[in-house]
Amino acid sequence: MSMKDKIQEKFQTLFGDGGEVFASAGRINLIGEHTDYNGGYVFPGAIDKGIMARIKPNGTGKVRAFSLDYDEYCEFGLCEEDKPDQAWARYIFGVCRETAKRGGKVEGFDTVFAGDVPLGAGLSSSAALESTFAYALNCLFNNNIDKFELARIGQSTEHNYCGVMCGIMDQFASIFGKAGSLIRLNCKTMEYKYFPFDPKGYKLVLIDSCVKHELASSAYNKRRASCENAAAAIRKNHPDVECLSDAKRVWLDEVREEIPEEDFLRAEYVIGEVQRVLDVCDALERGDYETVGEMMYQTHFGLSRLYEVSCDELDFLVKLARRCDVTGSRVMGGGFGGCTINLVKDELYDNFTDTAVKEFTAKFGHAPKLYDVVISDGARKVE
Ligand code: GLA
Repeated sequence: MSMKDKIQEKFQTLFGDGGEVFASAGRINLIGEHTDYNGGYVFPGAIDKGIMARIKPNGTGKVRAFSLDYDEYCEFGLCEEDKPDQAWARYIFGVCRETAKRGGKVEGFDTVFAGDVPLGAGLSSSAALESTFAYALNCLFNNNIDKFELARIGQSTEHNYCGVMCGIMDQFASIFGKAGSLIRLNCKTMEYKYFPFDPKGYKLVLIDSCVKHELASSAYNKRRASCENAAAAIRKNHPDVECLSDAKRVWLDEVREEIPEEDFLRAEYVIGEVQRVLDVCDALERGDYETVGEMMYQTHFGLSRLYEVSCDELDFLVKLARRCDVTGSRVMGGGFGGCTINLVKDELYDNFTDTAVKEFTAKFGHAPKLYDVVISDGARKVE
């Protein structure tokens, strides 16, 4: 049975007929990691794995929600003090609250939802969930909130209801995603451009280390604070620097003695990464995948040694990719576990994936998972 049919069946049992179906997507990011909350560039795309929900207004002041994946039901009101206990329900609650805070109308509804984004893999299952509901509520209650603001509703949900001070990349990709294209987004100006992405002769494969870091959200917030600290120090000399991505590398060197070494290293990574996104986009337009791949390896080095969001398992996978002549490889997403993203020539794919599974399993005692992804559409109504 398809996911849509399973949702339909459960919805019918719990709530009866009717409802409309909405969906949104997880994301990959080719390059541009931890740059979004620094006002830099990112280069994500929505993928063919996401969240789907059937939803119907129920004429009450309550949301009645069922998660097929957790096999759990939750009912909650729409006022601030009604915040539910279940983590998954808090995302939906947050989206309702953030929509209301922006003057949108939100009334009670019934919903059953499910997803196929692997959890904890760094593919943004949470953004897919937020975007599905932000988009759906906007349609169902005729709110006319624009797509940028829908993405911000998801982001604010993370900030205010889930404790992660994330940037805008995941929710943006999930809302604006388009089949076959990656999107270069300037996170300061919110200007964006679609880049058709179809590297002939190459495959994109994700390798999930299946490692999940318990303290990932506090470590993430700490990285963000380091960047803000570095930007504030630079701003004293260069008042036009609004965010770290505005800073030149030499300006960072000027404040090296004034800030903790850790903050310096974090900022060094970010300033390099913002430039790498632009270099990758140029290389893509020339069809120069070797340069794209080399930049991915450089990003991994920075994420591992300067930003310190990698782990042994991910470093192992990237090293192994290099040895198997993979064009580019790096940890993807927030880090602290999750996946590597790999750009690999068709003819090297089998050897690489076989070797990775074999050697990783031998070293770490559990098998990694492989995901082939297709760049797909983001938030939408499903007919
Ligand atoms: C997480 C966050 C994003 C972004 C990435 C790192 O996915 O949600 O906003 O910061 O990490 O690039």
